[in-house]
Amino acid sequence: MQRIAVIAGDGIGTEVTAQALRALDTVRDRFDLDLEVEELDYGAERYLRDGTTLPKGEIERFRNDFAAIYLGALGDPRVPDMQHGREILLALRFELDLYINFRPVKCLADQFCPLKAKTHDAIDFKVFRENTEGIYVGVGGNFKKGTADEIAINEDINTRKGVERIIRAAFAYAQKNNLGRVTMSDKSNAMRYAHDLWQRVFKEVAQDYPTIEANHFYVDALAMALLRSPEQFEVIVTNNLFGDIVTDLAAELQGGMGMAASANINPDGLCLFEPVHGSAPDIAGMDKANPLAAILTMGMLLEHLEHREASRAIENAVMQTLHAGHLSEDLGGHTGTSQMGDAIVERLSA
Ligand code: NAD
Ligand code: IPM
Ligand code: MN
Repeated sequence: MQRIAVIAGDGIGTEVTAQALRALDTVRDRFDLDLEVEELDYGAERYLRDGTTLPKGEIERFRNDFAAIYLGALGDPRVPDMQHGREILLALRFELDLYINFRPVKCLADQFCPLKAKTHDAIDFKVFRENTEGIYVGVGGNFKKGTADEIAINEDINTRKGVERIIRAAFAYAQKNNLGRVTMSDKSNAMRYAHDLWQRVFKEVAQDYPTIEANHFYVDALAMALLRSPEQFEVIVTNNLFGDIVTDLAAELQGGMGMAASANINPDGLCLFEPVHGSAPDIAGMDKANPLAAILTMGMLLEHLEHREASRAIENAVMQTLHAGHLSEDLGGHTGTSQMGDAIVERLSA
């Protein structure tokens, strides 16, 4: 028996997770998988009600009792500082040491490709985003807060160990999947200390993979190249903040935030799966959210748990649903969130 902890979260997180869970139920029955889901109410509503973000001991319980964690999205206008988001999502990333934020970027059909004169097959690469350090660690502080002399500091933490393990993960992935190129992106022309470390470690690790081309883009040039010639990218490895920004841009190359799936991985431990998008307060509660990113993310979770047939079935159902013309608003259609889910379930049960 494998148990999956599900935190649907806030806003459209609850709507898209409901559809991902329907897909999971359907493949569980079809392939006779021994899976059990525990739904947890962590998120803004609970936080506002009783102050709970993640209860003490919960991460330990996750480690002991679960095979994977699934998260919809967090973020609520009533919690403007996103305190609960940091104490749930970032805490899970840091405390479970989920150092690989693996974000596949693939455009599934020409009609979703926003680039003039490019076809969907130009967009097919993987981003390895460092997920446990950088500017996200919350080291810093204020001095003279609220005065004209205020100082605000967020330290950018880059460790030799942290930089090396994400770069190694990117190369190892490329090798295992017969990919020819790993691109590292930093801003070492401006950030001399931290990104000089990235430069040195990248060159060093690349030597262990002589058959893989190791190339480099400053992150500003990477943003440009992703629009101009995305076909050159196979694996991109970068730091936490740049990876966050680059993967929203990359999501748009796939057809939008509603199509982008991701996994937070520790190769030796419990992993967390979540779509790249947030809680989308602008469309929350309207049955407009595209659930495909969430459903594809469930497919990644199943693949991770070695239910390959089920994972393949989900990918195929997504392709068939799109080809049959079931398109949510973000994809240019009028199909609602739950109707998109209906179309997926119909194909999964066939
Ligand atoms: P967002 O990703 O929620 O939304 C950005 C835009 O994309 C919006 O216009 C939204 O309507 C659209 N969009 C996103 N997902 C979509 C979907 N599935 N279908 C159709 N359209 C979709 O980013 P934001 O507006 O900057 O953030 C909203 C909240 O979510 C914030 O509180 C933010 O901190 C949080 N957030 C959480 C996560 C997470 O939990 N993993 C990720 C990103 C943002
Ligand atoms: C993401 C999100 C998070 C991040 C936020 C909600 C802290 O944008 O997963 O991409 O910046 O990592
Ligand atoms: Mn993001």
